Amino acid sequence: MTVLVTGGCGYIGSHVAVRLLAAGHDVLIVDDLSNTRASVVARIARICGRAPRFREADVTRRRALAAALAGERIASVVHLAGRKAVGESVADPLLYHRVNFVGTLNVREATGDCPFVYSSSATVYGNPAQCPVTETAPAAPANPYGSSKLASEVALREWSAAHPAATVVILRYFNPVGAHPSGLIGDDPAGVPQNLMPRIERVAVGADPVLPIHGDDYPTRDGTAVRDYVHVEDLAEAHVRALALQVPGATTLNLGSAQGATVREVLQAFERATGRRIPVRVGPRRPGDVPTVWADASRAREALGWTARRSLETACRDAMRWRRWWSAHVATEDKSLAGAAA
Ligand code: UD1
Repeated sequence: MTVLVTGGCGYIGSHVAVRLLAAGHDVLIVDDLSNTRASVVARIARICGRAPRFREADVTRRRALAAALAGERIASVVHLAGRKAVGESVADPLLYHRVNFVGTLNVREATGDCPFVYSSSATVYGNPAQCPVTETAPAAPANPYGSSKLASEVALREWSAAHPAATVVILRYFNPVGAHPSGLIGDDPAGVPQNLMPRIERVAVGADPVLPIHGDDYPTRDGTAVRDYVHVEDLAEAHVRALALQVPGATTLNLGSAQGATVREVLQAFERATGRRIPVRVGPRRPGDVPTVWADASRAREALGWTARRSLETACRDAMRWRRWWSAHVATEDKSLAGAAA
């Protein structure tokens, strides 16, 4: 039986695909490659000794999606395909509603009522009034990216109410970091990344001279903002467990480490783990950033028997291994592509 992984060539999706293949599943990846590379499929195969099947398709195009799934017996779905850049969502909200919301409707409609795991985000909480954040905290997204994730959640919950025997698991990720320990897959968005860990990596490999710290006047222990960083391998494991959950109805779960770390603490962990020194420059707060967000992950522990096990140091070491491999191999794909285009 086949597990459909939409967005399976992306950062989290590729790690989920590896875990599912390792657990013996037949994996079909559907990805439009808009924010990743086709070479991820071969790299997944190299890690697992067995390839996922791959079809290039855009989940917003119903006919293309139907063609990608024709003749398949999909036993369950992990739907991760979507866009995730906050700034881009503010500039082009309809793009986010089309890809994230309409895409989710299309994938659900195309796959009947088999178990469905949805990739959501702690971004749906906006600026939470209390930390740790529980799943019952009010959802108040602060940007179109968050609204598009919340709208998808609402649609899935309402679909679930109309199909009470079906299982839907909505996973709200906090801040995914790290990479597969092989160093062959990791976070590799198109363009210059804005998230903290890839920015630190860029300084570590000399691509940027300093890390900008976006504000050190927050009401936190060292003045920098607090987030809940969770290793992508821990996240991937949670997806495999979520697929095995046989609870009818919709279940919403936070996936975080249940620990907050400041920007400076992440830097210290990175320096300890890799032996590299990361020069910083303190700048103003980044518009839209909130002081503190970290998860209460006890519901995921109860429902899935899952807790995040990997430390921030492990995530930093794995991220650095990936970045080194990326610099030596993947970055050259760009150069050869640029050369071919010239
Ligand atoms: C961001 C998104 C969130 C998304 C998440 C994971 C915003 C407002 N939120 O979360 O919706 O789900 O990424 O993709 O963009 N920082 C620096 N210097 C940098 C980069 C970041 O100091 O160069 C700080 C930020 O100010 C923040 C922390 O590091 O305090 C984490 O930033 P980031 O990795 O971008 O994640 P979030 O902002 O938490």
